[in-house]
Amino acid sequence: MADPQEVLSQRVRSALGAAFGADYAGTDPVIRPSQFADYQANAALALAKRLGRKPRDVASDIVAHLDVEDVCREVEISGPGFVNLTLRDDWIADRAGELLVDERRGAPLQPRQNIPIDYSAPNVAKEMHVGHLRTTVVGDALARTLEFLGHNVIRQNHIGDWGTPFGMLIEHLLEAGEDSDEAALLKTDPNAFYQAARVKFDGEGDFADRARRRVVALQSGDAETLRLWRELVDLSTVYFNRIYAKLGVTLTDDDLAGESTYNDMLGPICDELVEKGIAEVSEGALCVFLDGFTGREGRPVPLIVRKSDGGYGYGSTDLATIKYRAGELKADRVLYVIGAPQHLHLQMVYETARKAGWLPESTVPIHVQIGNVLGEDGKILRTRSGAPIRLMALLDEAIERAAKVVAETRPDLDDEARAAIAREVGIGAVKYADLSVSHDSEYVFDFDRMLALNGNTGPYLQYAAARIRSIFRKGGLDPADAKGPITLTEPAERALALTLLGFGPVVAQVGETLEPHRLCAYLFDLAQAFTSFYEHCPVLKAEDTAVRDSRLALTAATLHVLVQGLDLLGVAAPERM
Ligand code: ARG
Repeated sequence: MADPQEVLSQRVRSALGAAFGADYAGTDPVIRPSQFADYQANAALALAKRLGRKPRDVASDIVAHLDVEDVCREVEISGPGFVNLTLRDDWIADRAGELLVDERRGAPLQPRQNIPIDYSAPNVAKEMHVGHLRTTVVGDALARTLEFLGHNVIRQNHIGDWGTPFGMLIEHLLEAGEDSDEAALLKTDPNAFYQAARVKFDGEGDFADRARRRVVALQSGDAETLRLWRELVDLSTVYFNRIYAKLGVTLTDDDLAGESTYNDMLGPICDELVEKGIAEVSEGALCVFLDGFTGREGRPVPLIVRKSDGGYGYGSTDLATIKYRAGELKADRVLYVIGAPQHLHLQMVYETARKAGWLPESTVPIHVQIGNVLGEDGKILRTRSGAPIRLMALLDEAIERAAKVVAETRPDLDDEARAAIAREVGIGAVKYADLSVSHDSEYVFDFDRMLALNGNTGPYLQYAAARIRSIFRKGGLDPADAKGPITLTEPAERALALTLLGFGPVVAQVGETLEPHRLCAYLFDLAQAFTSFYEHCPVLKAEDTAVRDSRLALTAATLHVLVQGLDLLGVAAPERM
């Protein structure tokens, strides 16, 4: 066990049991990082009331029964009754040494849960926008982290592949020709294809009629219409996959589970809701009204499951997603990585599903709310002309800007090597910017800031990893061979080693809170702890071989943790930078 907080919790809990009886062994020892020691146990303050005694006396009873000699160098009571705990240097050193051989770098393997994650969800024949970028990047980091923690992650890319626009899109595809350049646009610039279809739809009367008839044919399962629809979806999938490849996102075609997947469930879902008395017809639409969901002037907000024209919307498809994920996928947790404005909608979906008996208590649905990405004007990011940003162009610009940085920092490398670094740094910067702020807050998209080599940025962490690799290259050494033993004498060594022990706990915390920015903050701390260590403690030039081996081991452990952490975020760690 490498997590100091957890080890100290266990020890203090035993002390509580020994001092005050078995009833107290379950009490939270309230271990917190401390200004005056490494940690403090604050349990005495709460317990004093329960025991009717002075907190300081309770604290001294705890200390009298505390068995931490192997872990702590110093135990001291301070203030009204805090127990200050200072770890032994050799204990920290040994735990840090274990990280070198532990492939998990201290991260726990948790009891396996089934966790479907709904993320990315772009729309067929439409450009992906920065909102899709963020749900893709955050969802992928969560998928990677939860998988690493031992869970059965089921990626669900809920693409928008159904609905009335497909009538017009299919007619446009037919007119342009399936092998035409126009059709090929779907793979590169889907909005151009969509807009051309739209113009025809709004213009020529005849086209619009054909488009409407085509919707009916699609819904009634006409074979030729379905074939053309499939063609549209496949061409769009090529576009999505190009974006995913550029981003280094783990989604594949096997993860596609678009809106159309649920078509056969929608009718029965409506019927069942009516039968169970959960849904009712209001102004022609089939609606669910739930207590406590009211809008302006206290008017009830409906979850519309079938529109008055007979069409289905997100209300019914999302009910289908949760029914399927809870019922068929046996989900323990279901993650919806979707825009924050959808919060009310999802709450209504969950509650309706609970009422209908589709969502057992054992399944926990969670909305991972995604905040907006803004332009410098504080509005949703758009191009100067007001058009939505083309995601591919945005990513290419990031790579181009990174290339300029790399041209300055690494004039010694050839073009190909520099281009490879620029790709990793440019994409890493964009992804890290999405991940390093809490996922539900808005942030301003700013190339200069995300590409900066200083501060909590992707490139800063990538540079930290690359610099460590260069230390080993310079010494003609392989980080895998650095085995220690670690001995801690300098304060900067001790601080770095203690920070290293925080990796496992923070990964577990991300798995629980579903907040990747916590891992970012941790990795930033780690890189800073390494920088200060490297400033104060010569590594390759250390005079004493034992000191050199110890510092090389600390350096290697830092690299392992950094690389593993970046991998969980989906950010590449370049060999050189
Ligand atoms: N395709 C939708 C959009 O682009 C997002 C769908 C989100 N997922 C879901 N299960 N509702 O706006």
